[in-house]
Amino acid sequence: MKALILSGGKGTRLYPLTYTRAKQLIPVANKPVLFRVIEAIREAGVTDIGIVIGTNTGEEIKDAVGNGLRWGANIEYILQESPDGLAHAVKISQDFLGDDRFVMFLGDNVIQGGISGLISDFASSDWNSQIVLTAVENPSAYGVAKLRDDNSIEKLIEKPKDPPSNLALVGIYMFDETIWDAVHAIQPSARGELEITDAIQWLIEAGHRVYPHVHTGWWIDTGKPTDMLEANSLVLDELVPTISPDADIKNSEVDSRVTIERGAKVINSIIRGPAIIGEDTVIENSYVGPFSSIYHHVTIQNCEIERSIILERSMITDIDVRLQDTIIGRYASIRRNWKKPRALKMNLGDYSNLWLD
Ligand code: G1P
Repeated sequence: MKALILSGGKGTRLYPLTYTRAKQLIPVANKPVLFRVIEAIREAGVTDIGIVIGTNTGEEIKDAVGNGLRWGANIEYILQESPDGLAHAVKISQDFLGDDRFVMFLGDNVIQGGISGLISDFASSDWNSQIVLTAVENPSAYGVAKLRDDNSIEKLIEKPKDPPSNLALVGIYMFDETIWDAVHAIQPSARGELEITDAIQWLIEAGHRVYPHVHTGWWIDTGKPTDMLEANSLVLDELVPTISPDADIKNSEVDSRVTIERGAKVINSIIRGPAIIGEDTVIENSYVGPFSSIYHHVTIQNCEIERSIILERSMITDIDVRLQDTIIGRYASIRRNWKKPRALKMNLGDYSNLWLD
């Protein structure tokens, strides 16, 4: 069994963060989503992993992930020169995958419970493909499945205007070598891409066995800022808390569901979990509330923050309103200026959002 992770794409819905960083490298609970995907694959016992990268962010992903040694995996990279669709990404990975059965995992998806169960079910089955479905509120944003009464798949449609069900295709797919005929047979969709949904529909029409597993836990495709915050909350909720012995906690109240990483300082502050404070971060005279992830080398002084993600090396000081549902990128600086004349001064990147109350 091999694994293919798709990690291209521009991440336009996460601008401005993704102007300067691959969306798969944005952390939830202080760990890049892509690393969580690699861990889920390794946990399932798969060691041969190919990562499909794009021209914009490929080098950054290679630098961050490396050759896989740290996960006990062998990672190879496959360059997709233009974003021509998920089935196209599979097509260009044929040399790497050969005739092995494989799991394909979208590098920006986070799923509760990992994929070990799914992989072992597929490995011991005679199915040609296994797909994962889950009930969603907005099926039109996804590939959608229509099942028959006996639970077999009647039809799969990519982003239907009029969805035949609320069962969306989760970004985790398993295939055997029958997929090669499918990806070579299909034509680009209306959005000009080779859709994996169409390739699976082709498998069904050709009489191959495609098994639909319905996932009942949570699943997030971290496409938008609200999805990142949601994924962050869900992952934090399940994190087993640890306090590093190197952390320096003085005169502070720290909940039992808080993780504090190496070298962090918490001084005169209250931290309510679930939350995580990253390496060498300083929290002083502040309140950090539930569902917050503060990454490494951040400074927070005289502030209140809740349900937010603050990325590395940012500095937030002397803000007298609570920051909530907020995502702050790297090296950002937010501070109160006491000098007169008082005014809001901003230096925001393209596509930034600022909500003032
Ligand atoms: C892709 C697939 C879609 C699937 C979704 C899951 O959509 O085409 O069928 O439901 O991933 O994340 P995209 O992210 O390309 O819009």
